[in-house]
Amino acid sequence: MTQTLTIRRPDDWHLHLRDGAVLAAVLPETARHFARAIVMPNLVPPVVTGADAAAYRDRILAALPAGMDFTPLMTLYLTEATDPADVAAAHAGGLIAAVKLYPAGATTNSASGVRDFDKVRGVLEKMAEIGLPLCVHGEVTDPAVDIFDREAVFIDRVLEPLRRATPGLRVVMEHITTSQGVDYVLANDRDLGATITTHHLIINRNHILVGGIRPHYYCLPVAKRESHRLALVQAATGGDARFFLGTDSAPHVDALKEHACGCAGIFSASNTLSCLAEVFEAAGALDRLEGFASLNGPAFYGVPANESRITLEKGDPVAYPAKIETGAGPVTLFDPGFALHWRVIP
Ligand code: DOR
Ligand code: ZN
Repeated sequence: MTQTLTIRRPDDWHLHLRDGAVLAAVLPETARHFARAIVMPNLVPPVVTGADAAAYRDRILAALPAGMDFTPLMTLYLTEATDPADVAAAHAGGLIAAVKLYPAGATTNSASGVRDFDKVRGVLEKMAEIGLPLCVHGEVTDPAVDIFDREAVFIDRVLEPLRRATPGLRVVMEHITTSQGVDYVLANDRDLGATITTHHLIINRNHILVGGIRPHYYCLPVAKRESHRLALVQAATGGDARFFLGTDSAPHVDALKEHACGCAGIFSASNTLSCLAEVFEAAGALDRLEGFASLNGPAFYGVPANESRITLEKGDPVAYPAKIETGAGPVTLFDPGFALHWRVIP
């Protein structure tokens, strides 16, 4: 008998859609399966003001193929010059769902991010007051800190002091990659949640480095050792509502990935649900996939879960294209390294 799994339509609580030709190519890959996504603002130039976010939302909706139903949940890129009143107005008008904090220099297009956290205190206090979540890229940029330790050090040096200084601020630790990240969420209250990516549930740092450098497994925060991956799988599949899906699907064209200084980012929109079903099935937790992908995120963000359903079906291995074509060049799809037996029934 064919095995099927019907769940509420999922949302992606951390997604990069880019702009222009890449946006046009990747948007349908997400919209096919997901009802909503938190759209990252790290364009060049970044999405800083409410006006920027409105214009970007319009470009996304214009790129959505006819007949597809998808709602982009917009974010603002926090800079040291961000105006608390502009943030509050964008939130009051229903335009934005969160503000994104990039420590300056931490990742792709983060140069306009925050260096001095005192300079954004007014914005954070306003956000705490109005209940607007802060999505955090949690890595220190101190060159003296080893890249594999940057998340754990960020928690102690930046996140904990920031949260103490701003009571009531709702924070999403984005794309956690460590057991320290998991433990920090578990030790704290309801104002703290975390997204976990598909790829960090599947790869560890060996996948990037053993047998040759594999640029398509390089992302930030970089995948850590196996014990951390196991902690993430436990968190995602364990049923705790503070953990939810944010794929961090982050397309870069192959020419920029297969490069002497390759870009960070893994594109996983097309096969994410197939990958997740394998991970949850292997953990004996298929019944918890819906919570992780479709229920916990809406609960954290205070919006209703989607009413529509999708059905996954298990069968012969599903073939996904290795790459998708974009007007700017091909983008390689995440390769989980194992066969995918689950597919979303169209
Ligand atoms: O791997 C990543 N890619 N991590 C990020 O934080 C940014 C993202 C991107 O924009 O490419
Ligand atoms: Zn991201």
